[in-house]
Amino acid sequence: MCSLLIVFGGTGDLAHRKIYPAIYNLKVSGLLPDNFAMVAIGRRDKTEEVFRKDAENAIRSFSRENQGSEEDLKKVVSRFYYKRADFTSFEGYEGIKKFLNQLDKKYQTHGNWIYYLAVAPEHFGVIVQHLARSGMTSQSRGYKRVVIEKPFGKDLQSAIKLNKIITDVFNEDNIYRIDHFLGKEMLQNIMVIRFANVMFEPLWNNKYIDHIQITSSETLGVENRGGYYETAGAMRDMMQNHMLQLLMLTAMEPPVSLNTHDIRDEKVRVLKAITPMSFEEVKTNVVRGQYGRGMIDGKPVRAYREEDRVSPDSMTETYMAMKLEIENFRWAGVPFYLRTGKRMPIKTTRIVVQFLPLPEILYYKEFNNLEPNRLIIEIQPREGVIIKFNGKKPGTRNEIIPVELDFCQNCAVGEVSPDAYEKLLLDVMAGDSTLFTRWDEVEYSWKLMDNISQAWNLQNPDCPIYPAGTWGPSEADELMKQDGRRWFND
Ligand code: BG6
Repeated sequence: MCSLLIVFGGTGDLAHRKIYPAIYNLKVSGLLPDNFAMVAIGRRDKTEEVFRKDAENAIRSFSRENQGSEEDLKKVVSRFYYKRADFTSFEGYEGIKKFLNQLDKKYQTHGNWIYYLAVAPEHFGVIVQHLARSGMTSQSRGYKRVVIEKPFGKDLQSAIKLNKIITDVFNEDNIYRIDHFLGKEMLQNIMVIRFANVMFEPLWNNKYIDHIQITSSETLGVENRGGYYETAGAMRDMMQNHMLQLLMLTAMEPPVSLNTHDIRDEKVRVLKAITPMSFEEVKTNVVRGQYGRGMIDGKPVRAYREEDRVSPDSMTETYMAMKLEIENFRWAGVPFYLRTGKRMPIKTTRIVVQFLPLPEILYYKEFNNLEPNRLIIEIQPREGVIIKFNGKKPGTRNEIIPVELDFCQNCAVGEVSPDAYEKLLLDVMAGDSTLFTRWDEVEYSWKLMDNISQAWNLQNPDCPIYPAGTWGPSEADELMKQDGRRWFND
């Protein structure tokens, strides 16, 4: 598994917060190959010494693993290199190539090179073209893989264009489109929970399920990413990728095997079974909102429009909720409600499966306010599964109360799941693309989103403001109320 990792955008935020700490954690867990080195390509004028110091500091601040020693840290960072180059211009690539060849020899990486594009999306295509033109993508000695961060395009048309550029150079098996949610421990656990237990799968359909809610909420605002976020909004930043991945894993049919293609085939079938919404349906089934001023953790925070690099009359959504129907035999008639937002009261990602009530006889006749049964898959920050059901309240009176079974896998002290980027980096080195997004997943997800953004563009801009620290605009509650349901915020 020897590899040379080349990080374009190696002086940036993502590299420091996620990629370098992940490399360090892999080392501490004994999973980093011996023949490994990393080269950061960036435009900033930095010496290698300064670059390594910055990387060390980032690892200290953002790494989950604190069992590693200073010695481990020094060892890892001694394999980090910095090459200053303007990656948007072809001229720099000869120098990059020469440098990579030297390191390839030194670390015996046998031409196994991974290009990680941790840069702004507008540079993806140009870097791939320059790599190809300078002869750095030939597979004649070792593999050449490319890792691409999201967003992959900004709509279907731009995604097709980008994909063409990339597939002209790399074949699909060597393209790793990152959706870091797929590297999260509990996302991988969704398939295990569903397909390694007899007790859930028989109920996992429209005969027993009333509806499913998928929520990913954050307390953070846009931080220092206002410029990017203005072009993305919650739809392109979260809904088109992370949220639809959660949906696919929750709703997919059992794959015929656990191999990459079979799993991805079943996932994409979920998207194919959703009809893109008409403009009218967008009005009734989709809600957007933007955070105003409010309170987070007892402290006042500013409004989205007051954030750096955000237009003071911006209509960009920081919240989005929508209702979808999956038109297949398993799910027809079961609504899926998805919502995501910034500056909400808590950070949580979870899937709530709400079961149908029993017929109105016996207890369902006698007690008219019985809570529905619910299965809650908690993705983060708490990782676990909760089953909520009804039980008799101990005592001489006949009373029924909601009770729960609660399995938490990261509540015990010291139980820390690996960060998503550790798993994903390891998978790229191993050549396993199961937890990455295949082109057709991207394609179908944009087909669903494009109708919504077109409808939004046509309608009068209508992006209700919700106070920071609340669960989004009241329109989102109406979306549920109109169906006689409510968001599960407990
Ligand atoms: C990223 C989005 O993909 O996911 C961010 O660009 C968001 O806006 C982040 O904050 C959430 O990821 P996590 O792992 O912190 O839940």
